[in-house]
Amino acid sequence: MKNFEYYNPVRILFGKGAISKISMHLPEGVPVLLVYGGGSIRKNGVYDQVISALGSTEFYEYPGVQPNPVYEQLMPALDIIREKKIGFILAVGGGSVIDGAKFLAAAACYTGTDPWEILSMHAAVKVALPLGTVLTLPATGTEMNGNSVVTRLSVKHKLAFGSSAVMPVFSVLDPEVTYSLPKNQIANGIIDAFIHVLEQYLTYPSKAEVQDRFAESLLMILRSTGSKVFADSEPDYDNMANFMWAATNALNTSISMGVTSDWSTHTIGHELTVLYGFDHAVSLAIVLPGVMTHLSVKREQKMLQFAERIWGITSFDHQAAIMESIRLTEDFFRCLGVKTKLSDYGIGAEVIGQVIDQLKSHDVNMLGGAGDLSIEDVPAILASRI
Ligand code: NZQ
Ligand code: ZN
Repeated sequence: MKNFEYYNPVRILFGKGAISKISMHLPEGVPVLLVYGGGSIRKNGVYDQVISALGSTEFYEYPGVQPNPVYEQLMPALDIIREKKIGFILAVGGGSVIDGAKFLAAAACYTGTDPWEILSMHAAVKVALPLGTVLTLPATGTEMNGNSVVTRLSVKHKLAFGSSAVMPVFSVLDPEVTYSLPKNQIANGIIDAFIHVLEQYLTYPSKAEVQDRFAESLLMILRSTGSKVFADSEPDYDNMANFMWAATNALNTSISMGVTSDWSTHTIGHELTVLYGFDHAVSLAIVLPGVMTHLSVKREQKMLQFAERIWGITSFDHQAAIMESIRLTEDFFRCLGVKTKLSDYGIGAEVIGQVIDQLKSHDVNMLGGAGDLSIEDVPAILASRI
């Protein structure tokens, strides 16, 4: 196991009615900016719960954060933050709303020319406004990490930044607020979380038993309980609670400590989303089987462990076992209603040059962080998905 330093100060307020506890964790005497999305929280009663929990706190609203949050849509909120002397941001929604709020928290304290530099030039984020979250969609893990992904439409760049300064002070996880989720967003959440675990697990052995076994238990829960949540005709509290907590643990980065991660599926997936508007998880479901197949020899040991422990496949023919596990993984995504081939969406070989151009435009050469994939591998990965 490699050396590591793990820091995660996010307070989790989990369970039924937990939104009512928000006021206990807000700083006193500062105006709050309530940031939310396209209106789901107004339809499902979460907005009313939040307003009631805010009580007499002075607050302002910034609605309209889009899926795959957009820099151009977020920037006007900075004027409100300055004018109203906002001292705390409360993000209520899915990963997009929370990531958008994290960007605002960092941008509000940015002293350079344009806050986009936080993403495009990796400008360090040492200070940010404090923020809290009410999560309404289990998927990204952003509620318990310091990452944020923002898209700038004018240049077609979807980029990430990370800083402990934007880790939420608290995150409310009430499984009941997810009952209004449409099935396709539940499927997205299961797939995104499943692939988060894989990208921290499916690389090279690190003799990290805690991380491996924890990752494997999350994969099993996302597979079994996730499937139940997807199939439930009426929401089941405990199924949803287990799915929600699994998704949070899938990317609160504890399973990545001391091991080699590889975020290449996300890197390529972000380009597909920018180019074709795919939901985040759909882009990943398309790319992952290609990355796994491409690396099946180099990463044989860990892939075999995945095949055996998650899918129960044992065979003397290691490559056959791995290929079967990739087939079952893709089948799992398809059973959740997500099509996994580019050709399913009418996309052909033209995608390869487009993705390569995108990656070059932000100077990507090596992909993922495991040191075994470069931009030169991308054409073969995408070609296998057409
Ligand atoms: O905008 P509203 O009206 O709220 O509707 C949303 C949106 O249309 C809806 N929704 C959310 N909660 C709901 C609900 N509808 C009914 N009932 C509820 N309870 O769901 C739609 C999708 O929401 P979105 O926030 O876009 O989805 P998700 O949580 O999957 O977030 C995706 C974003 O997170 C980024 C992705 O790249 C993408 O931009 N990621 C962030 C990460 C991080 N910060 O650590 C890691 C991830 O890998 C990911 O990259
Ligand atoms: Zn993701």
